Parts: sequence; structure tokens; C-alpha cells
Amino acid sequence: MTIAKNLQSTTTLHNGVHMPWFGLGVFKVEEGSELIEAVKSAIKQGYRSIDTAAIYGNEAGVGQAIAEALQENGLKREDLFITSKVWNADLGYTETLAAFETTMSKLGLEVLDLYLIHWPKAGKYKGAWKAMEELYAAGRIRAIGVSNFQIHHLQDLMQDAQVKPMVNQVEYHPRLTQEDLRAFCKQHGIQLEAWSPLMQGELLDNPVLAEIAAAKGKSIAQVILRWDLQNGVVTIPKSTKEHRIIENAAIFDFTLSTEEMEQINSLNENLRVGPDPDNFDF
Ligand SMILES: NC(=O)c1ccc[n+]([C@@H]2O[C@H](COP(=O)([O-])OP(=O)(O)OC[C@H]3O[C@@H](n4cnc5c(N)ncnc54)[C@H](OP(=O)(O)O)[C@@H]3O)[C@@H](O)[C@H]2O)c1
Repeated sequence: MTIAKNLQSTTTLHNGVHMPWFGLGVFKVEEGSELIEAVKSAIKQGYRSIDTAAIYGNEAGVGQAIAEALQENGLKREDLFITSKVWNADLGYTETLAAFETTMSKLGLEVLDLYLIHWPKAGKYKGAWKAMEELYAAGRIRAIGVSNFQIHHLQDLMQDAQVKPMVNQVEYHPRLTQEDLRAFCKQHGIQLEAWSPLMQGELLDNPVLAEIAAAKGKSIAQVILRWDLQNGVVTIPKSTKEHRIIENAAIFDFTLSTEEMEQINSLNENLRVGPDPDNFDF
């Protein structure tokens, strides 16, 4: 498989849209200067993809940071890839159409690069998908996808869908490798994307990863993020610290061997840091 060469390298989604392999997540970062500085710093350092969501409550700040970063770095809107997600309370055909407009006005954008159904709420996601298909057909969204969908959710959605999801963003890290889901997505041309790739910091003292990191002269975070890319998984680590924003992206100058990849794959314990998509109550 082709492996990303640098921060601007992209995967081609099944509709031909190019999506960066690497991006910045902004979950749990409140509106304000820390958020704006983090997004601007990432773009200045070469990041081209930013992942937000309506429920994060920070789309306005992300929009402001994007506008300032475009100007300060001489970039064009189409140089960036912006993702947002429709929240559970807004799932349903008319609700999702309205939620999308709110998101766009907060972000200050005309066109969104990727819009995701945040969680597979039973009985609700098909109406939302219909709305997203229409927005996609109208050119308001360049790619549409889902998040936290298990294989059975994808199968159910695809039964009625006109457009197959381009992306499935799920919790994915060395303790939750989701091999069946990864294989299913690959078979159907759905790009898998990792959320909480660093397990929200909980993996950063793992001895197996520490040994590989020491051998490579890299940090554990860098080893995990490189492992994502070599497994063909888009990754969006979150940091508000400029030194970590830089560190996390410095993963294009080393390669994990097949043996090291297998060692990391074998850390799987099917262990989640976030909610279970088959058993959530929000
Ligand atoms: N679709 C979904 O349901 C869903 C759910 C969760 C997350 N997400 C998306 O995925 C993104 C990433 O996931 P996440 O934010 O949950 O967790 P994460 O990226 O796995 O971990 C972030 C945590 O690790 C720390 N960190 C980052 N880089 C580090 C480094 N090099 N060394 C040490 N610590 C480091 C950060 O702290 P500092 O900021 O202090 O550096 C933060 O506490 C989110 O921001 C969001 O965009 C989506």
C-alpha cells in the first residue's frame, strides 16, 4: 500500500476526494484563545486537516482560526480539509439539514469537506443520511461519512443508501485494533479513521511501545501514529501544545518493520476508552 510521505499526503476516498492522512482533533478544547492558537499553530506547522463536531461546542473558534490561518499562511480554502459531525439530538432528515446550516454558519464556510453522523443512534441515522446525501449532491459537502459505526450499522445503512459512506471514524489504537471492522471497511472502500489514537494519553507508558520507540529514537506517540498510517488508517491526534503538535506530526522519517507492526497489533485487548457503539445512552 502507499504510505503517506508527509503531512500533506492524502488518501483518495471512493468518490475521488483527497483526504489528508493526518490531522488535528479538537475534542474537549473549549472556545477561546487556546483553541484558536492550537488550530493556527497546526496549520502553520503544515497540518491541513482539522476535526471538530457540533457537540464539541467549538466550531466558531475553529472557523475563526481557519480564517486567520488562511490569511497568515497564504493558503486557499481548498488547501484545508475540515470535518464536522452531526450530533445525536439532530439526527433525522429535517433536523440534520438544519444542524448542517448551524455548523456552517459557525465555521463560516460555504462548503464542508467531510460531514459525519457522530453516533449510530438506532432509528435515527437513516433520515440523517438522506439529508447528507442531498447536501452532498448539492455540492455543500465534498464527502459524507459516519462515526462509531460497527459492521452491522454499516450494513444496515448501506441497504437503503444511495451513496456509500466514504469514511468511518472510530476509536482505534493499539488496545482496540478492530481488525474485522478494518477489513470490512477496506473491502467496501470506506476509509477508516482513528479517534483517540493515543487512547487519550493512556498508552504512553506501555513497555512494548516504549521499547520500539527507544529503538527508533522516537516517542511512543510518534510510534502509535506511524502505526496508524502503516495500517492504512487516517489519524487525528489532539493536542493544544505546540511542541506536541510538532512532535505528533514528525512521523514521516521512519518506518516500522513488519515485526514491529505485528508486535503493536498484538497489544489489542478490545479495550475502549470511549463509549461502546452497541451500548450507549446519549
Ligand atoms: N467521533 C468520535 O466519537 C470521537 C470521539 C473522541 C475523539 N474524536 C476525535 O479524535 C480526536 C483525537 O482523540 P482524543 O482527543 O480523544 O484523544 P487522543 O488524541 O488519543 O489524545 C489526546 C490526549 O493526549 C495528549 N497528547 C497529545 N499528544 C501527545 C504527546 N505527543 N505526548 C503526550 N501526550 C500527548 C493530549 O494532551 P495535550 O493537549 O495537553 O497535549 C490529550 O490529553 C479528538 O480530538 C476528536 O477530534 C472523535
